[in-house]
Amino acid sequence: MESRDRKLMETLRQGNGTPRKDEEDHLSLRPETLDSFIGQDSLKEKLRIFVAASRQRGEPLDHTLFYGPPGLGKTTLASIIAREMGGQLRITTGPALERAGDLAAILSNLQPHDVLFIDEIHRLPVTVEEILYPAMEDYNLCIVVGKGPLARSVRLQLPRFTLVGATTRLGLMTSPLRARFGIVEQLDLYDPRDLTKIVTRGAEVLGVQIEEDASLEIGRRSRGTPRVALRLLRRVRDVAAVSGEAGIRRTVACSALDMLGVDPEGLDDGDRKLLRAVVELFDGGPVGLSTLAAALNEDAQTIEDIYEPFLIQKGFLERTPRGRKATRGTFAYLGFEPSSRFRQLSLLEEPEG
Ligand SMILES: Nc1ncnc2c1ncn2[C@@H]1O[C@H](COP(=O)(O)OP(=O)(O)O)[C@@H](O)[C@H]1O
Ligand SMILES: [Mg+2]
Repeated sequence: MESRDRKLMETLRQGNGTPRKDEEDHLSLRPETLDSFIGQDSLKEKLRIFVAASRQRGEPLDHTLFYGPPGLGKTTLASIIAREMGGQLRITTGPALERAGDLAAILSNLQPHDVLFIDEIHRLPVTVEEILYPAMEDYNLCIVVGKGPLARSVRLQLPRFTLVGATTRLGLMTSPLRARFGIVEQLDLYDPRDLTKIVTRGAEVLGVQIEEDASLEIGRRSRGTPRVALRLLRRVRDVAAVSGEAGIRRTVACSALDMLGVDPEGLDDGDRKLLRAVVELFDGGPVGLSTLAAALNEDAQTIEDIYEPFLIQKGFLERTPRGRKATRGTFAYLGFEPSSRFRQLSLLEEPEG
């Protein structure tokens, strides 16, 4: 056996998919059960049924794929699934799995009922993806050991596990990989009511008093995203603490949020910069994503994943076949009069009212 192969077999035995503590876990803000996971009601309802059914059958949950913008709870759901299925959560990411051996090492160390979570699964290299197919379908691990005429393939039987994949870009996933997931679910931006509950619960975990109105204010200004809501909560708490307040009142929350550059509409500096570019540089658009990215000196993917979903939900941006476009609301928000070109364009493009 070549030393490269010995090393591979060695890693296969040791594995490196050990559970990893998430940066946010020390605050235990992550809900641990489906019941404490707030919002996404229809998704939760489906998961509850699928989990109960597979437990009844004594089988692992079908492989599950979550997609949607960052910070909406994909990783959290993976850990909830592991918990509900009574297995360990193993976390890795697409870009971390560079070679087939990296994934083989993790797979061969799985225990029955384990949940393997692959974040950013659209970034798996093709060679690694090919290892995943038989593992997902038949719980088989096929690896080639050796080179040239001496190469032989080794087949290992894996325990029955659940793969949970997460991606912000479903469109970049190959269709054979997507097709191997039995459950494919989208996570949507949260409404302010759910975010308010998330903030209130977060404050409870952090051990800080908060007025309902203050939670609502933070929830409303959180871009529909729990991660943002919890981050704002921590910052608002800091401001309240420094100004000697025992709890968080609405007035303190508002001034803290203003100070953080998050305005009453929930838009931050980045959002405003983007809208201003569309309106001032491109006369309200339409402007192509890459042109806009270049003008903002920002990564196109960041614009698509982070800024756009919220701006579109707020009605401040439209995605048209010819590019990104401001709305009348955008002009009003920025305090500009729409140009006559923009008004005409809008009339032409709005067939009914
Ligand atoms: N529905 C929810 N209820 C309560 N907290 C949530 C919810 N969804 C997400 N969070 C919190 O928001 C943060 C980001 O969630 P995470 O699962 O890491 O998002 P993603 O993996 O989609 O980027 C975590 O701190 C998590 O606890
Ligand atoms: Mg995540």
